[in-house]
Amino acid sequence: MATGNRYTGLIGKYADRLPLSSDAAPISLGEGNTPLIRLDNLVRDIGKDVELYVKYEGLNPTGSFKDRGMTVAVTQAVAEGSQAIICASTGNTSASAAAYAARAGIKAFVLIPDGKIAMGKLAQAIMHGAEVLQIHGNFDDGMRIVKEMAETAPVSLVNSVNPYRLQGQKTAAFEICEALGRAPDYHCLPVGNAGNITAYWMGYSEMALKPGEAGTQACKFCEGDCQFHQAAVASRPVMVGYQASGAAPFLRGHPVEKPETIATAIRIGAPQSWDQALAASRESSGWFDEFDDEAILETQWLLTSREGIFCEPASAVSVAGAIADIRSGKIAEGSTVVCTLTGHGLKDPGVAERYADAAVSTLAAESSAVKEAILGKMR
Ligand code: F0G
Repeated sequence: MATGNRYTGLIGKYADRLPLSSDAAPISLGEGNTPLIRLDNLVRDIGKDVELYVKYEGLNPTGSFKDRGMTVAVTQAVAEGSQAIICASTGNTSASAAAYAARAGIKAFVLIPDGKIAMGKLAQAIMHGAEVLQIHGNFDDGMRIVKEMAETAPVSLVNSVNPYRLQGQKTAAFEICEALGRAPDYHCLPVGNAGNITAYWMGYSEMALKPGEAGTQACKFCEGDCQFHQAAVASRPVMVGYQASGAAPFLRGHPVEKPETIATAIRIGAPQSWDQALAASRESSGWFDEFDDEAILETQWLLTSREGIFCEPASAVSVAGAIADIRSGKIAEGSTVVCTLTGHGLKDPGVAERYADAAVSTLAAESSAVKEAILGKMR
C-alpha cells in the first residue's frame, strides 16, 4: 500500500464542499490542481502596473475545464445507478463526458453541431468510445434535444444545467484563492453557455467571509494547519465575461439566432445559465464585452509566442478582454487579475495552418542548407 501524498482529483480534495454522498465512489482522472501562471511578458508589453495571471485549465486530463464538472456529475450519475450519460456540446464537454464515461464503464451519447467542432475534440469523443451523434443544427438545437432526452430516455444529462457540473467547476475558484492567498480583484473568462462564470461566482462566494465573520486567514474547516482546505478570503472578485462578437447574446441583451465565430467552443446563442450569469455580473459589479475573431486569434498568438502558453481560441478571449480593459484603465492599476484559459490549444490545431507558411521552411537535407537557414533567421 502506497503511503505517499498522491493527488487524486477534486472529489478527494474537496469532498466536504461537494454535495456527493460519502459512499459515492469517485470517478476521477486526477482533474484540477492546474497552474496559475503569471504573465510577465504581456504585462511588460502593456506597460501597466497589474498582476495578471492565467488559470491554465487546458492542463486538465482531457484538456479543458469541463473535467472539473464531469468528475462530479458522472460520479453522481453512477451513484444513482445510471447506465448512460448524454450531452450536447461544442466539443469539450463531449470529450470530457466520453472519457469519464469510459472510466465509469457506462455509455456516453454526445450531440455535436454539424461540422463545427474542432478536430481534437472529435478525436477524443471517438477514441473514448462515445456514441457521437452529429446533428444538422447548432449547439442550441442540441441542448433542446438532450434536455428532452433526459426526460424521456434512460440517460443522465451532464451539461452544465446539471447542478453537479457547476459544483465541480466552482473548485477552480478555491484553487485560485489558495494559490494567491486571497481572491483576485478581477476574474475574466470566456462566456458561452454561461455555466463557468456561474460556477466561479459560486466558488468565490463560498470562499468569502460572511458579513460579521472575523477576518481570519485560518482554515474554516479544520483545526490548525491543513494542506487541503483553504483560508476564507475577505472579498470576491469583479466578474468580467467576454464573448465572441458573432455569438454575444449578453451584449445584445437577447439570444442570438445564428451564432458564428472561429472560437467554436463558444459558438452559442442561447446560454442555459443566462439568469445566473447576469446575477454574477450584477452582484460583483462586473460587465460583459465582446471581441471579434481577429482579436481573439491575435491574443491566442500573443499567448503562444510571448508567454509559451497554447490555449484554444475561445480561451484567448478572456485575455483579449483583460488586456483591453487594463489598457483602457477600466481595470485599475494595482489590481490582481485572473483569466481562465479554458481549453488547450492542441484541441484545435487547425488554427495553426494560417501561420504555417511563414513558420515552416522546407530545405534540402544538407547541413549547409540548415546552417544557412539558422544564420538567416538569427539576423
Ligand atoms: N471555453 C471553452 C474552451 C469551452 O469549451 C466552453 C464551453 C467555454 C469556454 C464557455 O464556457 O459554456 O461555461 O460559458 N464549451 C461547452 C462545450 C459549451 O460543449 O464544450 P461556458
